[in-house]
Amino acid sequence: MDIQILVAQPEHAIHAQAICDLIEESAKARGTGIAKREARYVEEKMLTGKAVIAFVDGQLAGFSYIETWSHGNYVANSGLIVSPEFRRHGLAKKIKKAVFELSRKKYPEARIFGITTSLPVMKINSDLGYKPVTFSELTQDDAFWAGCQTCPNHDILMRNGRKMCLCTAMMAPSAVEAKQKKLEKLGKKREKLDKKLDKMEKKLS
Ligand SMILES: CC(C)(COP(=O)(O)OP(=O)(O)OC[C@H]1O[C@@H](n2cnc3c(N)ncnc32)[C@H](O)[C@@H]1OP(=O)(O)O)[C@@H](O)C(=O)NCCC(=O)NCCS
Repeated sequence: MDIQILVAQPEHAIHAQAICDLIEESAKARGTGIAKREARYVEEKMLTGKAVIAFVDGQLAGFSYIETWSHGNYVANSGLIVSPEFRRHGLAKKIKKAVFELSRKKYPEARIFGITTSLPVMKINSDLGYKPVTFSELTQDDAFWAGCQTCPNHDILMRNGRKMCLCTAMMAPSAVEAKQKKLEKLGKKREKLDKKLDKMEKKLS
């Protein structure tokens, strides 16, 4: 299997309708909510370098794109789809990792979140460092929640004042926050090592 995971380019726009069809067919098959996408919207993501596309042996195999909310304070990696014939080969994992890294590169200050009912997506998100959160932690941008309108569970979301629904919300720290955490950890390690060294020096003297 020759797998290619690419940041989508303008020439990939010819696949936009096929991607939308895949998303819609999968949503129908699952009977759960995936917000419907228009080809023009997907195309625009490809033209602006905000999408990842996957091919297997030259055939369209998967896709995901970046959305920004609350003036760029939040990023969501949405529209994840893998063509049924290529599922269970780790393709979604590769696409999610690529779109996650692209998000952090393009929007280093933005927290990355997603809402999902999908077990594979929850697993992949956990591996990437996402943690479960309540909906109150997410963007309150109306435009984001408007995306839920085509979901069959939209009435549940609205009945609960947008505080909960069937989806689980997950969030990962921004690139800047992740770097800070790493530095803090290194700092603590260094402190411990310094203390150990101090003790050893005292013993030797
Ligand atoms: C969800 C989807 C993207 C997964 O794609 P995939 O390429 O088959 O996923 P992967 O092979 O990368 O699997 C990722 C993990 O999920 C697990 N997994 C995949 N499909 C699974 C399933 N149907 N049931 C349970 N676990 C599953 C894999 O075993 C793997 O787990 P591991 O890390 O413990 O090994 C694909 O099934 C799909 O396109 N579904 C329809 C659209 C959809 O649901 N999108 C998500 C919207 S939020």
